[in-house]
Amino acid sequence: MHRFDSRITTRMSMVAEKLVNTERRMLKAMLTNPTKVWSLSEILNACDWQDQAIAVGAGLGLTDKGLVELSETLTREVKLGVQGQSAVSEGLLEARLWDWFNLSSEPSVANLQQSFERHEAGPGIGLLKKLGVTMDGGRFTCANESKVNEIIKSRQDFLAKLPKTVGDLDDDMLAHFHNRRNFIEFVDSTTRTWQLTTEGAQFDSSLLTESTMINEITPELLQSEAWKDAEFRRFDVTLESATPRTGRSHPMQSLIERIRHIFLEMGFSEIVDDYVQTAGWNMDALFIPQDHPAREMQDTFYLENPNSISLPDDIMEKWSKIHRTGGQTGSTGWGGEFSKEISQKGLLRTHTTVNTIQYLAENPNQPCRMFAVDRVFRKEAIDRTHLPEFHQIEGIIMEEGANLQMLVTTLKTFYQKMGYPEVRVRPAYFPYTEPSLEIEVKWRGKWLELGGAGIFRPEVTEPLGIKHPVLAWGMGLERLAMLVLGLDDIRQLYISDLEWLRNQPLI
Ligand code: PHE
Repeated sequence: MHRFDSRITTRMSMVAEKLVNTERRMLKAMLTNPTKVWSLSEILNACDWQDQAIAVGAGLGLTDKGLVELSETLTREVKLGVQGQSAVSEGLLEARLWDWFNLSSEPSVANLQQSFERHEAGPGIGLLKKLGVTMDGGRFTCANESKVNEIIKSRQDFLAKLPKTVGDLDDDMLAHFHNRRNFIEFVDSTTRTWQLTTEGAQFDSSLLTESTMINEITPELLQSEAWKDAEFRRFDVTLESATPRTGRSHPMQSLIERIRHIFLEMGFSEIVDDYVQTAGWNMDALFIPQDHPAREMQDTFYLENPNSISLPDDIMEKWSKIHRTGGQTGSTGWGGEFSKEISQKGLLRTHTTVNTIQYLAENPNQPCRMFAVDRVFRKEAIDRTHLPEFHQIEGIIMEEGANLQMLVTTLKTFYQKMGYPEVRVRPAYFPYTEPSLEIEVKWRGKWLELGGAGIFRPEVTEPLGIKHPVLAWGMGLERLAMLVLGLDDIRQLYISDLEWLRNQPLI
């Protein structure tokens, strides 16, 4: 009996020696009530800790050593999102519509559009219809009013109940609000409790004295002898911790910054210029024929004000000659007439090549590497992969001996630095480059087209007095963002979905 006891004691002191301060303190606290099941806040209280990561870490250590048993329950809580909050404070849209319907002497679509703002009237009609309100000759009617009352009431009740854990909520209602953007948010959390094991409960509390714990290494500490017997606080980077919800850049902004960085690192300088431009610089300077379909009203946003922006006559003369006859370049040009009036039309730039070409016109003799990341405009119908307003990553290299190989290598280097090592080019056509390329990047096993590139034609460079070859490219930024953020709908980037924005990775 005696021998047995001393064996336990030896073993206990060996275990005690292996414990770090936090584990000692936690074990000591738990020994004050050896059969109790401890919650996190009870542990924090008893140990006089603020940081829950310390408690979780110490608990983990004690669990590993067989002294404590840990139980974890995962809970998913549902709370109100931004839309849900305003629905609670200002009233659910369908509830307000329903009130309007009941009070209106003339519940017509036209009246509804007058009583509600556009962003509510549009979805509102759909909401009413889904509730069983029908439209008859522009007027709303409802066959089963009590049913609508009931549905609306249950939706309001549901929102009023939040926050609640998923298990306590009605599945159908949950699915309904989950489908409505930003109405609800899910917050996952783990609840932990700790209890001493039989071995832990028998532990001798007097073995649990704490040694000095060092959190931070200072020069003073290293100079003194104190560190020799001290215990160093360990950092456990695998522990869960709260994500601080601080302000942060929009992922598009971060991506632009990263692209800037890469080009600056590669020796490029940035061009920043206005998006109000002339058709002359946007198209004529780039040898895009004046009757090119992309110049039509349905593709390009021409401006009413300024409707026309005057250009120096000598530059228009040069474009005119090249377009009509090909000038001295050996080209035959496009033939036909050239209109200076068309050149001077004001528009929203359709590509950032309008900026690099003007830079070259101003600096025709100075070899350069320039880039721009900026907004462009095209009359596109909005869908999953198109926006009428988007960004391009534009660049040029002008220097003696610049060649196709250099162009391809530069683009490959750029995408490699972005994290996409697999890049290929394919022949393409642009009126202003020869040869012309399409750039493709491999993503999830598929080749995706991200932009165009090429070497400017003599019809572009000669009128500006440029002697060296100019390598040029223009690539879609949003397309790249879709890859980086793993999106399959480009619109996600601009709808200000707070929950989504918060959870985006740092770029
Ligand atoms: N401007 C072209 C576009 O908008 C891209 C491009 C730029 C192609 C430069 C060749 C050279 O798609």
